[in-house]
Amino acid sequence: MKLILGIESSCDETGIALYHSERGLLAHTLHSQIALHNEYGGVVPELASRDHVRYVLPLIRSVMQKAGCSLADVDAIAYTQGPGLSGALLVGASVASALAYTLDVPTIGVHHLEGHLLSPLLSDPAPAFPFVALLVSGGHTQLMRVDGVGRYTLLGESVDDAAGEAFDKSAKLLGLDYPGGALLSKLAQSGTPGRFKLPRPMLHSGDLDFSFSGLKTAVLTLTQQHVLDDQTRADIAHAAQEAIVDVLATKALSALGKTGLDQLVVAGGVGANRLLRSRLSETIGKRGGRVFYPDLEFCTDNGAMIAFAGAMRLQQQSAQRLYRFNVKPRWDLRELNYTD
Ligand code: KG4
Ligand code: ZN
Repeated sequence: MKLILGIESSCDETGIALYHSERGLLAHTLHSQIALHNEYGGVVPELASRDHVRYVLPLIRSVMQKAGCSLADVDAIAYTQGPGLSGALLVGASVASALAYTLDVPTIGVHHLEGHLLSPLLSDPAPAFPFVALLVSGGHTQLMRVDGVGRYTLLGESVDDAAGEAFDKSAKLLGLDYPGGALLSKLAQSGTPGRFKLPRPMLHSGDLDFSFSGLKTAVLTLTQQHVLDDQTRADIAHAAQEAIVDVLATKALSALGKTGLDQLVVAGGVGANRLLRSRLSETIGKRGGRVFYPDLEFCTDNGAMIAFAGAMRLQQQSAQRLYRFNVKPRWDLRELNYTD
């Protein structure tokens, strides 16, 4: 029986959660910095770090209260060790290590993307291993084969912008606030299908890699060529979303074909996109496969996925009791395979 406190602070969300190895997720809470970074059109790292400092302890207190637990009940502390913004990561890492030292419990440095990869296991029904994961966040676009906890094989990834970045940059060109993925998707609802057709880079490249930087340029060109009235903005948003979703869905489908697996798990913030969800469910359902999505609140960054990944790792490898911490702002998920 283990109670794990999870701390996520890799970017612009402070996420805290308590996961119990037998009772599951006991409580979780999140503070989003979206309003703080909004006026700058993107995340300002120094402001992000300071805001994590402000919120991390009050949020830990609130999670303890929600779960009816006290710090003395905690058996281990999992924190996001990377990848992410170094200052922001250091806040979570130092709080985790200081608390762990005081409580005499181990720490577990979790890979942020492993958190996303395993987050669908928090939902019911959960997929069984092996499955293909489509990881689509603001910083990453990857297709992974997941054979078990800690057994990940990269099948393909974006050679330039991430899918979330493509959404956010297109949204910015259309005058939407940051991060614009969800706003662009909303605007696209009133768009005219087929008025604009945007390129689908690498759609037929034969591999499972992606490229999205050309899309941003194509959106820029459209915004320069047309008067941006509300309808035109919606039409461009529609075309941009169609192009991104088309590429993601096509590649995800061919990943299932290439691996011979029939379960797809979608993780990361872009996994909240409704068109992507319906397109994947439809095409994969047709070939007899099944798609799993984490609950919406676990799609974007959150503490629950870090506490959960920490709990899984605690079952597989010994945790650290040295309290000497380092963060890994750049950290390749392939370095993580820890079982065979
Ligand atoms: O996983 P996440 O919360 O943070 C990262 O680790 O990057 O993903 C954030 C990304 C942002 O780019 C955001 O615009 C995008 O997910 N996103 C969406 C939607 N909701 C969030 N993109 C498209 N449609 C949405 N509904
Ligand atoms: Zn993330």
